[in-house]
Amino acid sequence: MKKIGILTSGGDSQGMNNAIRAVTRAGIHNNMTVLGIKNGYQGLIDGDMEELNIRSVSRIVDRGGTFLMTARCLEFKEEAGVKKAAQTCRDFGIEGLVVIGGDGSFRGALDLSRQGIPVVAMPGTIDNDIGCSDYTIGFDTAVNVAMQAADKLRDTSMSHHRCSVVEVMGRNAGWVAVDVALSVGATYTLVPEVPFQVEQIVEKMKMGLAMGKQHFIIVASEGIFFNTKTNTNFEYLQSLGIHGAGDLARILEELTNVESRHTVLGHIQRGGAPTARDRYLATIMGHRCVQLLASGQFNRVVAINEPNIIDLPIEEALKMKKPFDRARYDIANEIGI
Ligand code: ADP
Ligand code: F6P
Repeated sequence: MKKIGILTSGGDSQGMNNAIRAVTRAGIHNNMTVLGIKNGYQGLIDGDMEELNIRSVSRIVDRGGTFLMTARCLEFKEEAGVKKAAQTCRDFGIEGLVVIGGDGSFRGALDLSRQGIPVVAMPGTIDNDIGCSDYTIGFDTAVNVAMQAADKLRDTSMSHHRCSVVEVMGRNAGWVAVDVALSVGATYTLVPEVPFQVEQIVEKMKMGLAMGKQHFIIVASEGIFFNTKTNTNFEYLQSLGIHGAGDLARILEELTNVESRHTVLGHIQRGGAPTARDRYLATIMGHRCVQLLASGQFNRVVAINEPNIIDLPIEEALKMKKPFDRARYDIANEIGI
């Protein structure tokens, strides 16, 4: 393979730049020309790309986001869009494509491979909800960003004897919430995958109050407020008039008499310098993607099955489900008082 392309797709995540850098440098090491495609699959449809050299990926190891930019491209979900993108690959002489994104991006990669374009993909999303991989690029940084924010909230909650309800990202999955809760010692962790009752939180807070505890952190995954397949709590919360973190804080205050505030961390969690862990994952996975293409292996997803970096067919990767780590969740709730 003499010419490869790389794109980032779906929601951005910290470490995507490190992945682009690794693919570029490894590609050049293997005597390949590397094209950086802009705006995900949209750039492939539009032919929006530029050649990357050793220097074009320097000074980006510590930058969040993706310098190739990303997009949610509706046109690519239609067969006509995929065909257009495949034609662009042929027009530009792209013999292999590296895709970084979540499972939507993997589905797109599969469609493209069915049009005869060799593809390899790696998991980039802060949500850590990719079935075939223990961890995804960006998850560790997002957890660290949220942890630091929650630590700051603890400072002010302590001063005012308050309860702080912290909403973290994860539309369809509670992975971010659980690891943030474990890291900050949250009194209670709320995730879409595990049913809960408000009384359980209240009871635990009252138990804490009886022991002299004066401030509380409740970590809530945004996923508990959305009507999704993973959310087991949606109807219950709706029935209580709880539609967001603010409603939850208000009800906890009413039931415990502990003054409560809420903070929605939002997209802050998708920014900032990637952690060493994410830089490592992105670099090793990017390197593996190029090795696969260089050795004529494609239509595969690179993943981590701790401690090993593995690769498997895209179809197989897409079928894999990641069971929610209930044990980890239970530890968070057992240790956090
Ligand atoms: P993520 O990759 O983070 O899951 P999305 O689900 O938004 O993010 O997918 C990113 C892009 O991948 C979409 O904008 C679209 O271009 C492409 N894509 C998503 N789902 C499909 C699909 N079922 N078939 C083809 N392409 C898809
Ligand atoms: O990257 C995944 C994710 O962060 C979800 O947890 C979140 O709900 C969603 O993306 C929001 O992304 P956007 O605002 O870009 O649509």
